[in-house]
Amino acid sequence: MARTFTDNPDKSTVRALWNTPLLRHLNSQYGIRYRYLGLPGTDLIDVNLWKDMIDEVIAFEPPDADDGGKRAYNALTYNMRKAGIPGHVYCGSFEEVVLLRTDFEGQGYTQEKVVTLYNLDFCNEICSQVQTQEHGKRVWRFDAIRQVLRDQSECFRSVGGPRHFILMITVRNQIGARKIRDYLSPSRLQGDARAFYRKCSAINSLPESGAVIGTHSWALKALLHNMLCSYFGNPNLSALFFPQVLYQGTKVRTSAGFIDSPMLHWLVLCRFGEDTAPTPEFWPNEYLVKPSVMVGANNSLVWGAQTGEDGPDNAAPDTVGWLSQHGASILNGIGRLN
Ligand SMILES: C[S@@+](CC[C@H](N)C(=O)[O-])C[C@H]1O[C@@H](n2cnc3c(N)ncnc32)[C@H](O)[C@@H]1O
Repeated sequence: MARTFTDNPDKSTVRALWNTPLLRHLNSQYGIRYRYLGLPGTDLIDVNLWKDMIDEVIAFEPPDADDGGKRAYNALTYNMRKAGIPGHVYCGSFEEVVLLRTDFEGQGYTQEKVVTLYNLDFCNEICSQVQTQEHGKRVWRFDAIRQVLRDQSECFRSVGGPRHFILMITVRNQIGARKIRDYLSPSRLQGDARAFYRKCSAINSLPESGAVIGTHSWALKALLHNMLCSYFGNPNLSALFFPQVLYQGTKVRTSAGFIDSPMLHWLVLCRFGEDTAPTPEFWPNEYLVKPSVMVGANNSLVWGAQTGEDGPDNAAPDTVGWLSQHGASILNGIGRLN
């Protein structure tokens, strides 16, 4: 049987209390509508929740892990049509389709309009391999994220469209110790991330080997922030980073039974910079030491400062509040409806 995504209370809380208020706020106050590109899964839970604000969906679903069948892809295609959601489903991993420009069905992939909502809702690690048609298993996630940002930029320059868009990335809070040590080597890190790395290593250092599971979110936060700031440099994208969110994903079945799935979720509001600007800008200042958010009791969101992070202020965590506190510059010039 094809393994499909099963929702869980924590994920539903992140969707409903973290993502949705911001999407609704940007839609009602600034008229932003969403062209979604991402991984909605066969049940399209996120897309259905935001359907009234979505104009089009570009979705990806790989062949079934067990036998390479297309049950999940077919189910997603069917469910999208049944719900009357305009868009396109590609059969293949997001990585392979955006990099090779074709899917397992031979459908060509190009970007024709600016995407305003990326939901790269991965189930596994940031550096997990994907199965490709011709190249075996490859770590293509980093390159694929670079590629969609290049596509987005070319599309914006040639066709025009909205200047702002949202990028959401979710991955398992897990990585091999050797890998993350390499990814965070000083030669790869920019100033902020290097200082944060030093600070956190002194408090909660990375092991030399083995898997780091749920214990060093500071390292993945540093990696993600360092990586996106460098990817954003060339298309000249400025960005407001929202607090990192930690939650428990759906447990995974293994031969040893069910195991926990600690997850990390990042949300970034991006804006194409002016051609005349020398560099992009990133907000808030000192993002890396700002506290993370967790799903607490009764499906609420609470601050949960992790290694290297400062304590929270008094207000409860909320994306619209974060935008009003730190978003004046990124929203500068955007037309308000109300
Ligand atoms: C976490 S679920 C999606 C959940 C959905 N976004 C939501 O909010 O309920 C991820 C879905 O994408 C598929 N998927 C996982 N990794 C993928 C990849 N690299 N490329 C394309 N699809 C992927 C999974 O099979 C699954 O259906």
